[in-house]
Amino acid sequence: MSNDDASSGAAGPAGAGATRDPANRVLIFDTTLRDGEQSPGISLNKQEKLEIAHQLARLNVDVIEAGFPITSPGDFESVQAIAREVEGPVICGLARTSKQDIEAAWNAVRDSERPRIHTFIATSDIHIERKLQTTREDVKGQVRAAVAQAREYTEDVEFSPEDGSRSDVEYMAEVIQIALDEGATTINVPDTVGYTMPREYNAMFTELYRLVPDLRKVVVSVHCHDDLGIAVANSLAGLEAGCRQVECAINGIGERAGNASLEETAMLLHTREPSLGLWTGIETTEIARTSRLVSRLTGYQVQPNKAIVGRNAFAHEAGIHQDGVLKERTTYEIMDATTVGLRSNSIVLGKHSGRHALSKALEEMGFELDGQALNTAFKRFKEIADRKKQVTAMDLEALVTDELREEISGYALEWFEVEASSLRPPHARVSITLPDGSSATGSFMGDGPIDAVFQAINAASGMGAKLNDFTIGAVTEGQDALGEVSIVVEVHGFTGAGQGVSTDIIDAAARAYVRALSVAVARSQADAAIGLPETTTP
Ligand code: KIV
Ligand code: ZN
Repeated sequence: MSNDDASSGAAGPAGAGATRDPANRVLIFDTTLRDGEQSPGISLNKQEKLEIAHQLARLNVDVIEAGFPITSPGDFESVQAIAREVEGPVICGLARTSKQDIEAAWNAVRDSERPRIHTFIATSDIHIERKLQTTREDVKGQVRAAVAQAREYTEDVEFSPEDGSRSDVEYMAEVIQIALDEGATTINVPDTVGYTMPREYNAMFTELYRLVPDLRKVVVSVHCHDDLGIAVANSLAGLEAGCRQVECAINGIGERAGNASLEETAMLLHTREPSLGLWTGIETTEIARTSRLVSRLTGYQVQPNKAIVGRNAFAHEAGIHQDGVLKERTTYEIMDATTVGLRSNSIVLGKHSGRHALSKALEEMGFELDGQALNTAFKRFKEIADRKKQVTAMDLEALVTDELREEISGYALEWFEVEASSLRPPHARVSITLPDGSSATGSFMGDGPIDAVFQAINAASGMGAKLNDFTIGAVTEGQDALGEVSIVVEVHGFTGAGQGVSTDIIDAAARAYVRALSVAVARSQADAAIGLPETTTP
């Protein structure tokens, strides 16, 4: 058996001219901004969500689940902004079955050219009895009312029986029939707890198609969690049973162990298209960039050996492998790295490049910066270009994303100084802006220069933040590479993630720490102010 993927490029192995069966087109429903954002420690602001949504549009996903509007005013505003600004994909808002939820979801997405309301309620007995503390009949009534209400607002309504894979299939079939009778146009049956196995999930859909023949008239969707590490395999099993929408998230982020990873699902379908006959509209060359953006803004690092987007996904260590790849790439590679947008680093600027060259390069990369944002980007570009021989597209991407994060309200780093010596403990002084706009300074003698800066920030902020996670990476290769630091801190039991980019690793660490602190403090304050949502999110 040889590789299916003999080609590279976004057109897919079937090639741009080949005939593809429209019935086998798989819709990619991205839930990075909803289920993905439910990962511990992740808290994206409106600007960051918009940036991710624009990138998802460049990736050409079919649906963006932009959030869960009822859960907070911030979530509502972000979904609304995405609905107003992002063109191309369907923009979807999640809602439980209550009137207020559906109304909030509609108000948030209504300005999109292609709005969708996604409503859900659990159908497994354990959820109905223990979580919802109600009855099967009551759930049916709620589904009827919710889908009918959503259909009054829009023709595009998705319904999900939560914990579907652990539900009694005959009862679930009755619930689905009700949703269809009321006009649902997509039925998504989730493996909410990541428990199912490929053959079970496949058999469940086969049975549902038998019990509810009307399912053949709508889009049926899979939504798998990765608790047992088989979310993508389960998603494929559902597609093989006839489903034509996959719900997934960039870098596989999401509740607990996460959702099926978008990049793995898309590249599985792309690479094995000749065998499977299934295809998507994903612009695969945008995959690597989308993964980097999500990783930077969420603070969730991608593991080095992660399929498709990990640092080592296309690296060959063993001599025999390297030798083979040099002679013929397909001896050890089933995909071409350029197909997912890796190794495309054609933009190079130097220290003599001016504002115009920078703005043109950014425009080519899809960043629309003008006015103050362009001035700030130019200032940082100059600082970097003074220290680095060449500034590449990857550097620019890191820099612009870093600037974006300045929008996070809360604390901001003003300056720091560290005295480091092998003879005595390092001493750091910092000055930060507090959330009320005033400045505060702090100093500390730490175990190492970075520890001293972190403790000095704690002293200045008056917050006893605890460092939970600290990772240093390089944006590109070479001695003069930009350093990128990811941090997770904890404040009063609430975590916050932050990242920072700089040619100076202490500067990158300090920026990351202050941002993580802002997120954690904002989360603890939001919780104190509004309490938790009335029922748990799925
Ligand atoms: O996992 C789940 O059940 C969900 C639903 C809302 C689709 O996220
Ligand atoms: Zn989910």
